[in-house]
Amino acid sequence: MTTWVGTSWKMNKTLDQAREYARTLAATDPGRWRGLQPFIIPPATALLAVNEVLGPRSPVLLGAQNAHWEDAGAWTGEVSVPQVADAGAQIVEIGHSERRQHFAETDETVNLKVAATLRHGLIPLVCVGEPADVFASGASVTYVRRQVRAALDAVRDPRAVLLAYEPIWAIGSRGRPAAPSDIGAVFAALHDDWGGAVRGILYGGSVDASNALSILGVDGVDGLFVGRAAWEVDGFIGLLDLVAGR
Ligand code: PGA
Repeated sequence: MTTWVGTSWKMNKTLDQAREYARTLAATDPGRWRGLQPFIIPPATALLAVNEVLGPRSPVLLGAQNAHWEDAGAWTGEVSVPQVADAGAQIVEIGHSERRQHFAETDETVNLKVAATLRHGLIPLVCVGEPADVFASGASVTYVRRQVRAALDAVRDPRAVLLAYEPIWAIGSRGRPAAPSDIGAVFAALHDDWGGAVRGILYGGSVDASNALSILGVDGVDGLFVGRAAWEVDGFIGLLDLVAGR
C-alpha cells in the first residue's frame, strides 16, 4: 500500500526559491522513499520551473493548487486543467478550505472541477473538512461524508481520486493539531464509504514530524498532506525519511 506524503506551498515562493527547493529534492536519492508517493503543489507561477528542475523521470508528483472546470475562455484570473497539465501538473488540488472560505468555492464548483480533472486524466486531490463548531457539536462525520458525496456526485469511476480530510480547526498557525482520537471516526466513515474505491485518503492540518507517525497510525489514513512543516525542503525530506523509516 502506497503512503502519500505531499505538500502545498500555498501562496509562497519566488521562482528562485521554488527552483532551489526542487533542486535539493531532485538531488536526494528517492530509493530512501520506497513505498511512499511524494508530491509537491507549488503556486501556478512556479509549476513549469519546478517541473523542469525535477525532470521527466522524477518520482515526485507535481500538482496545481486549483484549476477551473472549463478548458479555456473568458475567466479572468483562472487557469484551466489543460493549462496546469501543460505546465507539468499531474494532480489538481480542489476545494481546500481556504478556497471555500475566501474564494467562494462551493460543493458544486468542487464537483465541476473534479469532473474536469478526471476528464483530462489528472488526479483530483479533493479537500474536505468541518469547521470548529461542527466538530464541537459532534457532527463531523455527517458533514464530511456529505462534502465527499457532493464532490464526487456523478463521478462514475473515482479510482483516480485522492481525498484529503483536513478539519478546518486543525489547519494553519492558528489551528489546533488534531489528536488521533479526534479524527478516527471520520476516517472510519470515509474508509467505509470510499476505501478501495478511491486511490487514497489523506490527512492534513498542522502535520509535522512530532505527530506524523501517530496520525499515520489511525486506521484508514493513507497519507499526509502537509503545509508549513514542509515549506522548507529539509522539513519535507525529513518527513519523507521519517515516514519511510517507520
Ligand atoms: P498546515 O496546512 O500543515 O500548515 O496546517 C495544511 C493544509 O492546509 O493542507
